[in-house]
Amino acid sequence: MTPDFYPSGSAVMAPVAGHTDIPFRRMIRRFGCRYAFTEMIDAGSLVFQGEKTLRLASRGNDSGFLGIQLVGSDLPTLKRAAEIVNDLDFDVLDFNLGCPAPKVARKCEGIRFALENPDGAVTAFETLAKTSRLPVTAKTRIQDERDPAPTVAFCRRLQDAGARSITIHGRLMHNFYSGPVFHGIISAVRESLDVPVVANGGAMDGASFRRLLAETGCHAGMVARGALGNPWIFREIADPEAGPPDVAEFTETIRLYMADMLDCYGPVFAYVVARKTLLEFLRGRGYPGRLRASVSFLDSADALEKLLEAIAQGPTERYTETLNLHPETVERKLVVRRG
Ligand SMILES: Cc1cc2nc3c(=O)[nH]c(=O)nc-3n(C[C@H](O)[C@H](O)[C@H](O)COP(=O)(O)O)c2cc1C
Repeated sequence: MTPDFYPSGSAVMAPVAGHTDIPFRRMIRRFGCRYAFTEMIDAGSLVFQGEKTLRLASRGNDSGFLGIQLVGSDLPTLKRAAEIVNDLDFDVLDFNLGCPAPKVARKCEGIRFALENPDGAVTAFETLAKTSRLPVTAKTRIQDERDPAPTVAFCRRLQDAGARSITIHGRLMHNFYSGPVFHGIISAVRESLDVPVVANGGAMDGASFRRLLAETGCHAGMVARGALGNPWIFREIADPEAGPPDVAEFTETIRLYMADMLDCYGPVFAYVVARKTLLEFLRGRGYPGRLRASVSFLDSADALEKLLEAIAQGPTERYTETLNLHPETVERKLVVRRG
């Protein structure tokens, strides 16, 4: 087996479009995330170098292991994009062959590229691998939930084309991000490849992350939605005994995140861009609906201060009672310390 960049037991932060930007990555690093990715970047947009794309392709002042992910299908564009990445400061280049989003699938890229034009997808991968000075990896999905053969065959071709590691999301294209994760298919791919396979799908907390590794036999796993509004998942993965945040830590984490957002985007955009992450923070943690609704109107430093004050008051008593009596029924844990 070729050596891997991810030591055994590693949790890798997945590329998540619209989420894994510089402030988000700074936040998860504080809770022990060692391996992270940009969100997927369209190769054509990178070549065109719009201002927004350049920000997506920027490391910021993050010194940890950071990968960049490209999506695309046109060979000259991918080659040019890989040349541009050669001049940027990343540790690995990942090729997206798993995205089912309509704007990607429409162009027959992402998972549709893998399913409908595997020869083209492998050639595109090879173009990146030959052009890039960085190790090149792939992220894809299972192709059939009952038969490992198609997924195995495709991943073997990527390996032969130079893939240094392959991440497999164990869900079918039409299931997007929900539904069962087929551990057996990931495991079959792992057994038949010489390069390391990273397991992905359904790691929503420390326990489910450990299950993902145990059931696939993979030495590393990738976390996506489980980290949105929940950077503590990395602490929980590293230390099963580590508790959830209390209200003070929760509030302070959001305050720091917002300071980084303002730094990165400036006051005109920061509040708007932050709204979806703030909603992720509040989801499942027992805050009243009207507080969550107020996030949709967040537009100023004053409004942020009021929101933080309300968050510091803690979740509803009903949530805390349920957390104490039936912790297994609570989606995300937030501890209120009394006295
Ligand atoms: C909102 C959203 C955006 C995503 N963006 C990307 C992306 O840019 N690149 C990618 O490879 N996967 C992307 N994914 C897929 C995730 O990386 C991951 O494969 C998927 O969510 C399954 O992992 P999970 O069950 O841990 O969430 C995205 C998923 C979501 C929900």
